Amino acid sequence: MKKPIRIGALISGTGSNLDAIMGACGRGEINGRVVFTGADNPAAKGLEKAKKAGIPTFVVNYTEIIAQFKAGTDRENLAKLPSDYDPEAISAKQSIVSRSDKHRLRTFLATRSIAEAELLKAMAPYPFDLLVLAGFMRNLTPYFIDRVNTDPANPRIMNIHPALLPAFPGTDGYGDTFRYGCKVGGCTVHFVDYGEDSGPIIGQRCFPINDGDTLEAVKKKGLEQEWQLFPECVRLFAENRLKTVKMTHNRANGEIFTRTVVKIVKPA
Ligand code: GAR
Repeated sequence: MKKPIRIGALISGTGSNLDAIMGACGRGEINGRVVFTGADNPAAKGLEKAKKAGIPTFVVNYTEIIAQFKAGTDRENLAKLPSDYDPEAISAKQSIVSRSDKHRLRTFLATRSIAEAELLKAMAPYPFDLLVLAGFMRNLTPYFIDRVNTDPANPRIMNIHPALLPAFPGTDGYGDTFRYGCKVGGCTVHFVDYGEDSGPIIGQRCFPINDGDTLEAVKKKGLEQEWQLFPECVRLFAENRLKTVKMTHNRANGEIFTRTVVKIVKPA
């Protein structure tokens, strides 16, 4: 039997996905345990769920950090930046904020790096093998990602997104799916890369959207799928069955298409 994996979790809200993962660990469906739960806001209800299960929790208050930065003088803000902050290097890698929007990019990279340095500090006492973003509503920058993915060939940050990616990335996947008039909706679990919801896909599930379904009905159907899909993907990680492979294809128009994808390998 392989060693149980240590799972770190970041959340922003209810934490029903965290609950699903903790449940699957408890029932032995995942050979692992959740070792910490962090949130970007103190009101995240999922923190209580973790506490009740005896899991250490912490909060890094992003809203406060961003507000303080916007109100701060250049001198004050400079003092808050992590000592190993390299905005050029981070900016060149990320593809979330346009590089032509200089002011927004500068604030985004600085505030996120301050928050991410705090996250890393809060996580440091709890070594982990996998970090799950279980409804974490903040984009992570290369500052954080590179410090977690120390071996780029083996990514270890997993996110769940409420849409069938690459359709509808962003903060309102089910809403965007519903408003577009899609006849199926779905959810996706993927490894996190430097873009917004753009990393290698691990698993997806879908459900029908019928005439007369409300947005609430779509969200309900979607969450029920998420609670199955996320633990399933974590289980595959725990069984060491997820491999990332760089694939190259020739398109009919002669273009070359290259993408890193996940292959699910057979159990050893
Ligand atoms: C879930 O629907 C998840 O897919 C979504 O937030 C919800 C969290 O629910 N995540 C995102 O939109 C990430 N961009 P939960 O807190 O009950 O697990």
